[in-house]
Amino acid sequence: MRQQIVAGNWKMNKTLDEGLELVKNVLERLEQRPHGPVVFAVPHPYLQAVAKMLKVRKGFHLAAQNCHHEEKGAFTGEVSADMLASVGTEYVLIGHSERRQYFKETNEQLARKVNLALAKGLLPIFCCGEPLAIRERGTHVGYVAKQLKAALFHLHEADFRKIAIAYEPIWAIGTGRTASTEQAQEMHAAIRVLVSKKYGKSVADDTSILYGGSCNAQNAPDLFRQPDVDGGLIGGASLKAEDFTAIVNAMK
Ligand code: PGA
Repeated sequence: MRQQIVAGNWKMNKTLDEGLELVKNVLERLEQRPHGPVVFAVPHPYLQAVAKMLKVRKGFHLAAQNCHHEEKGAFTGEVSADMLASVGTEYVLIGHSERRQYFKETNEQLARKVNLALAKGLLPIFCCGEPLAIRERGTHVGYVAKQLKAALFHLHEADFRKIAIAYEPIWAIGTGRTASTEQAQEMHAAIRVLVSKKYGKSVADDTSILYGGSCNAQNAPDLFRQPDVDGGLIGGASLKAEDFTAIVNAMK
């Protein structure tokens, strides 16, 4: 069954104390079990400490922001899917546009990350999205389709069912310029059609497609009300307990 998910991507922000304080505040504000999984994508050094805090609360989950595309070995400074799983990580962001842009991650590497994450029992949140020039040219649907085909469509159905997709138009990330509800719905519907063509309607209906890019407490309710928007991947607004909990509460 399709579920709404809200995931907070802290990126490279917060000290350990600040991060734990944020999680504590969010948990305190959300006394009821949320309508869908709430995921904290925290920096690697905080995974274990946050895992401990979340273990006692149903509906809250731990994510890493990246994993390496090799299983193990001489890759100084990198972190493997196996390592993440071994400290209690449940989800992992793969293919965030900042990773693609600043670390030159390729679709081929992303496909390998997806494979390793799944093999180690992690649930990938796979990010896709177009730059502004592509949006202005009107070729955004084809651009995103290419990203998904290249990194995900080699999977068997049972594995594909474990993937959540996050559509994040690059021009909307951290810019305060959110996609309109129509723009988000158009792309999310197109992604669902694409998944349906490859894996069939039942898989497509069950796939969670999150929106990301300047999603905040004000616009989340309208975005999440769109028939094909199943929650959000939240950057800036996930760093404040009040904002993040308001976004979690926009799930229904
Ligand atoms: P933003 O980031 O909410 O700050 O735009 C979203 C993301 O990059 O995941």
